[in-house]
Amino acid sequence: MTEDKKHVSVFIMGKKFSVPAGSTIMSALEYSGFQLKRGVGCREGFCGACATVYRLRVDYKIRTGLACQTVVVDEMLVAQIPFVPAGKPVYDIRETGPVIGIFKHDCIRCGLCALRCPAEIGQFNVAILAQRLYGRYLAPPSRELAERVEQIRRGEFVAGMADMKGMDKAKLKKIYYERDIEPGESV
Ligand code: FES
Repeated sequence: MTEDKKHVSVFIMGKKFSVPAGSTIMSALEYSGFQLKRGVGCREGFCGACATVYRLRVDYKIRTGLACQTVVVDEMLVAQIPFVPAGKPVYDIRETGPVIGIFKHDCIRCGLCALRCPAEIGQFNVAILAQRLYGRYLAPPSRELAERVEQIRRGEFVAGMADMKGMDKAKLKKIYYERDIEPGESV
């Protein structure tokens, strides 16, 4: 804390500034002379544009918060998370069906979006839900899957599984490497 008790010290991108106590990170940045052109939007805690990482003194943990909502504390170390450049997707929803391939264009479930989300939504779990709903209600039934399930129900693999469970590692390796590989199938 600085001497007048009405100010606190914050380190912004590594440089020390004295800012009014009670400031949000965003107002501390502006008070310190930073002009916010990116990483700022609604200033009300809704849009998530101002996601910031910070550390507290003598604390290894990286914390995250919205710069427009998080109040600075003395000796806070602040760095904003760069925005993610995203090309604007252009599509006609009348022609874009709810197909599973749609996922390959956005979501690989890395979870980084959850870091920015002011609503603390785990988007990767939403994506999994969407995929399951697609599989349950929209995906065309798979004849191969139905046949395999029927084979399992009839117990066609019980003896084979019992055999494999009784094998040692060397034997398992041998049958693994000697198994028939279809052209194009990965090993
Ligand atoms: S500026 Fe929109 S959440 Fe902070």
